[in-house]
Amino acid sequence: MTARLLSAADPAAIGEAAAVLREGGLVAFGTETVYGLGANALDPTAVAKVFAAKDRPRFDPLIVHLPGGDDAPGLATVVADLPDDARALAERFWPGPLTLVLPKAAAVPDLVTAGLGSVAVRVPASEPARALLRAAGVPVAAPSANRFGGISPTTAAHVAEGLGEAVDLILDAGPCEVGIESTVVGFETDAGGARRPVVLRPGAVTAEALGAALGRTIEVRTGNADPGAAQTSPGSLSRHYAPRTPLTLVDDAEEVEAAGACGLLAFLPPPRPERFAACETLSATGDLTEAAAGFYAALRRLDALGLPRLAAVRFPPHGLGAALNDRLRRAAAG
Ligand code: TXA
Ligand code: MG
Repeated sequence: MTARLLSAADPAAIGEAAAVLREGGLVAFGTETVYGLGANALDPTAVAKVFAAKDRPRFDPLIVHLPGGDDAPGLATVVADLPDDARALAERFWPGPLTLVLPKAAAVPDLVTAGLGSVAVRVPASEPARALLRAAGVPVAAPSANRFGGISPTTAAHVAEGLGEAVDLILDAGPCEVGIESTVVGFETDAGGARRPVVLRPGAVTAEALGAALGRTIEVRTGNADPGAAQTSPGSLSRHYAPRTPLTLVDDAEEVEAAGACGLLAFLPPPRPERFAACETLSATGDLTEAAAGFYAALRRLDALGLPRLAAVRFPPHGLGAALNDRLRRAAAG
């Protein structure tokens, strides 16, 4: 049996999906970043189904999604306090691909936050997602709708392939526009008692844009430098977003030897693509936005070829390129 697939363009489908969520079921839905696997965040039994469907370890907390604006449920349902910097970032970037880690309200079950005192919150920009969240009337906990550690889904077909019958309903909102996960920002109290924002997962809202909004440089902590170090964002495990085929990272496609056995993922058109068994070019014009939108789907296509190995060319290290390099590092981690 496979999951039911409905178009998010159909208002009746939104109503049906909202009812599934309210009744404790699982709905996969498109957002502007990646597809999420949603459950009523206030219902621990429903949230437990998310962990089971994904094979996700329970120490990895979920993001709670809200409709935003004046629509219920509001931020106060899930968050106990909103630091000034968080308020500024929410005003500037919500709705959008930014997740804020904030002190949690008592109503949020421990399962959602993996027992932490904080909760990750996001107001997505994609209209079908907001329509679903408004209609559901409950906060929706949603990790990416893929098996734990695998490649994130950016189409409804990716979700169906990966999760199949573990989902009650898939709401097809077309391919995700942004294509990589939201930026996760947490707040730390320093020795002087001041709270400062830290990027825990680089993503679609760039560190440069966050810094510009707050008028200062923001620390980016990718979290996998030292495997022995405590995880500040418990989900930021080294190996993640990974294809089945072994993946090597290079600065230049010309570095790849024995390319005839290798599939290449390249940002720009490489000099000699015919050397490779297969080649996916993400942007002919060097546009990082376009590259991010096609990134996971291209990685999936290469992985599906069953080649002995894959190589990927690192992105320029600024803007969205930093987030894409973070995903590449994790995809390549042994
Ligand atoms: O774009 C996205 O964020 C997508 C869509 C569906 O919204 N969701 C997503 O969820 O990427 P997931 O579960 O794949 O990633 C959630 C990330 C993990 O890195 C997790 O560790 C972090 O958010 N996180 C969640 N709660 C946290 C908390 N209380 N403190 C620190 N990090 C937290
Ligand atoms: Mg994920």
